[in-house]
Amino acid sequence: MEIFHKPEELKEYSRKMKKAGKTIGLVPTMGALHEGHLTLMRAAREKCDIVIASVFVNPVQFGPNEDFDAYPRRFEEDCKKLETVPVDAVFHPEPKDMYPDGFCTYVNVDGDITKKLCGARRPGHFRGVATVVTKLMNLSRADEAFFGQKDAQQVVVVNRFVSDLNIPVHINMVPIVREPEGLARSSRNAYMSADEKQRALVLSRSLRKAKEAYDNGEHDAEKIKKITREVLDAEPKAKIDYVDLYSFPALEPVDSVDERSILAIAVYIGKTRLIDNVIFGGADK
Ligand code: PAF
Repeated sequence: MEIFHKPEELKEYSRKMKKAGKTIGLVPTMGALHEGHLTLMRAAREKCDIVIASVFVNPVQFGPNEDFDAYPRRFEEDCKKLETVPVDAVFHPEPKDMYPDGFCTYVNVDGDITKKLCGARRPGHFRGVATVVTKLMNLSRADEAFFGQKDAQQVVVVNRFVSDLNIPVHINMVPIVREPEGLARSSRNAYMSADEKQRALVLSRSLRKAKEAYDNGEHDAEKIKKITREVLDAEPKAKIDYVDLYSFPALEPVDSVDERSILAIAVYIGKTRLIDNVIFGGADK
């Protein structure tokens, strides 16, 4: 597995691979890799000749009071996991090489899709994501890029700027990977104590309850949200950030839930902010 730290090295590698006629799959990550990430890597492995993973805790997508400093960094461990897939190359740059002195160009997705859910709570977050993902797509010359459904709004935003900016890449959304008891895999799960992790099961429980109600014929959006909130409210350590229902992928408000609706939640368990979602007719049931 090749390891590149400098953008120029990745650029040269992907240039050569493209010249050799290879298709390239990109899996952007911030590291602290778990089974969710490895599922993305395997999806890329199946579809593409060359798989490039990036491991970069991107400073520009974190707000001033967010967890940039605390975000887990475990590059050696990550590489061992990537070798099991295997991936062909990993890109692990320094912030100063991605954002050198004088850097002042950002990708800003300026539509309604960034003004709700996490976009409303984390100002500037999607501008940071769109900027780094655009850079990674340019450097890797990816034909295919892979993102997890857990960050469903991110997938919507990425699809939007890829389409708006005519970036020649196809976006693949891979279903949420959960721990056996239901907790969605996330690098941020590492922040929680064993007790908090147990309490965090309330997120997937609330979504399951909502889905059950839908399957039993309840399609009223307000009622589905109420059911979700009631389950979350019963856990004393859970503080709801949002419980919202939209059409997917348009992210427009819905009164009546159907199979292309998404129920998305963000909940604090202690100090850890977790997100999860269900698409009612989707792969992640
Ligand atoms: O989903 C993430 O881990 C990040 O937002 C991404 C896509 C790697 C960009 O930094």
